[in-house]
Amino acid sequence: MDEDEPITLEITRRTVIETGTTALLLTTLPRAALGAGPLDDAGPPPPPLTVELQINGQSHSLTLDPRTTLLDALREHLGLTGSKKGCDHGQCGACTVLIEGRRINSCLTLAVMHDGQSVTTIEGLAKGENLHPLQSAFVEHDGFQCGYCTSGQICSAIGMLAESRTGMPSYVTEDLTQQPELTDAEIRERMSGNICRCAAYPNIVAAIKQTAGMPT
Ligand code: FES
Ligand code: FES
Repeated sequence: MDEDEPITLEITRRTVIETGTTALLLTTLPRAALGAGPLDDAGPPPPPLTVELQINGQSHSLTLDPRTTLLDALREHLGLTGSKKGCDHGQCGACTVLIEGRRINSCLTLAVMHDGQSVTTIEGLAKGENLHPLQSAFVEHDGFQCGYCTSGQICSAIGMLAESRTGMPSYVTEDLTQQPELTDAEIRERMSGNICRCAAYPNIVAAIKQTAGMPT
């Protein structure tokens, strides 16, 4: 065959049927027939570890399977269910909490990685009867409908405003030599990791702007 001749792949009905049959066999054959070991080959679970966390100003000592995410530690071990599990894959932001003041998706980090650190969840923002200014602004601007994303939105916004104050640029910051100005576009970009399926986005932006002292 001429080396310069382009290679063409002819896909026929027979090719499709043969490929599909092979895929079906691979997914339905017993693992032994494929030369794979049993599913429990992974061995015994790792021994539990003890982690000390400062959560909303209170010390907690937890003995956990080291594979426990921070989100599961909060929700399942401490009953702090304000942080939501939306996707469990770092895609929705519903689980956002603050660690040492910085926002993080708690479903993507292991609790044992934060030994000795302080964690702030939505439950730790109000001071008694007094809501955090962002919580009040969300109420005032109807920044939620079903509320499932709201705790993550509020924790994320607190972290985002702190990042902005320290001059951290975002993807839409045009001049990296200047303190970024907090515009609607900046807020939307910086909050883009927090999905709201009720699409309360204009109201969320308004609440954040009010808290940041911007005209709404
Ligand atoms: Fe963590 Fe969706 S639950 S990002
Ligand atoms: Fe329902 Fe955001 S208020 S998902």
